Amino acid sequence: MTRLVDSFQREITYLRVSVTDKCNLRCIYCMPEEGVGLKSHSDILRIEELARIVRIASQLGITHVRLTGGEPLVRQGILTLVCFLSETPGISDVSMTTNGVLLPGLARPLREAGLHRVNVSLDTLQPERFKKITRRGHLRSVLDGLKAIEDVGLSPVKINTVVLKGINHAEVEDIAMLTKENPWTVRFIEFMPFWNNGWQFGNRYVVPIHEIRDKIMAQGAYPVESDAGRDDRKDKSGRGPASYVKFPGAKGSIGFISMKDHICSSCNRIRLTADGFLLPCLLSDISVDLRTPLREGVKDDVIAGLIRKAVSLKPENGQVAQTRATCPGANPSLSKIGG
Ligand code: 5AD
Ligand code: SF4
Repeated sequence: MTRLVDSFQREITYLRVSVTDKCNLRCIYCMPEEGVGLKSHSDILRIEELARIVRIASQLGITHVRLTGGEPLVRQGILTLVCFLSETPGISDVSMTTNGVLLPGLARPLREAGLHRVNVSLDTLQPERFKKITRRGHLRSVLDGLKAIEDVGLSPVKINTVVLKGINHAEVEDIAMLTKENPWTVRFIEFMPFWNNGWQFGNRYVVPIHEIRDKIMAQGAYPVESDAGRDDRKDKSGRGPASYVKFPGAKGSIGFISMKDHICSSCNRIRLTADGFLLPCLLSDISVDLRTPLREGVKDDVIAGLIRKAVSLKPENGQVAQTRATCPGANPSLSKIGG
């Protein structure tokens, strides 16, 4: 079994793949209303190109793949890709981060294509507020989507909630309550202000994540070991960056995530952008172009060499660069917060 190990003895097993920079929502914390400049269609990797990169990466030691965007479910051919990936020897886990809007129709085909699990973004349980945050979606479709993934057994279900002061801040207890009756993990994420294609969002929506944790603890929740065993962020010791709590008798658990708690020493991941660049680190500018050589027709071993190179370029600690675009939808060639 080959292993991918970086210059600081971290084993890299996890690849996040952005499959599109498009999104069917316009969440206020993620993009401006008019959307963001999209990459030209020809720059975006084709499904076969994505599958080939993952196959080569799997031969080097990648075992987990997460599909992200933009919104991965708006990508043409996403089911074919999931099928390819789930059949790739060495890949034991194929997951996805989605806004859930298209899950009602796609949960079953995704399951049949071999997807293992899904993280769904859900910031509110109130229809009007949902419209305000996402600017175009309907809450109903996401709730139906959650039901659909549960019905088809795409589990464990994880929900990501970005906490926004003055917007959904007062609703965190209600959202946390979902874990009482449902075996879901709700993860509250501290909003990260960012500079995004000339559009500045500012600090006004930030709520420190420990405040949310205190609120939930005040409702009677108690700390648990974490579900790190199932957490794709865990390191070799099973440690992930989120801390977890539970309500007495609850079926699910609640996590708290802040990018500030990000632990570089346990990083196990690299990222592939929709236009074919490998990013060794979320917080650094380094990128390795795979698209050009791919389209020049190079052999697998050249691509393998470039993947190894990206891993070897992983810095020990990422430079915290909050002035950079951080939206999964906004600018997949740069950094992403989604994880
Ligand atoms: N701050 C925190 N999380 C963000 N996400 C996107 N933008 C931000 C931001 N500015 C995360 C959300 C969403 C996922 C796709 O990316 O958790 O669920
Ligand atoms: Fe919202 Fe995610 Fe789409 Fe950004 S990429 S607009 S966070 S659904």
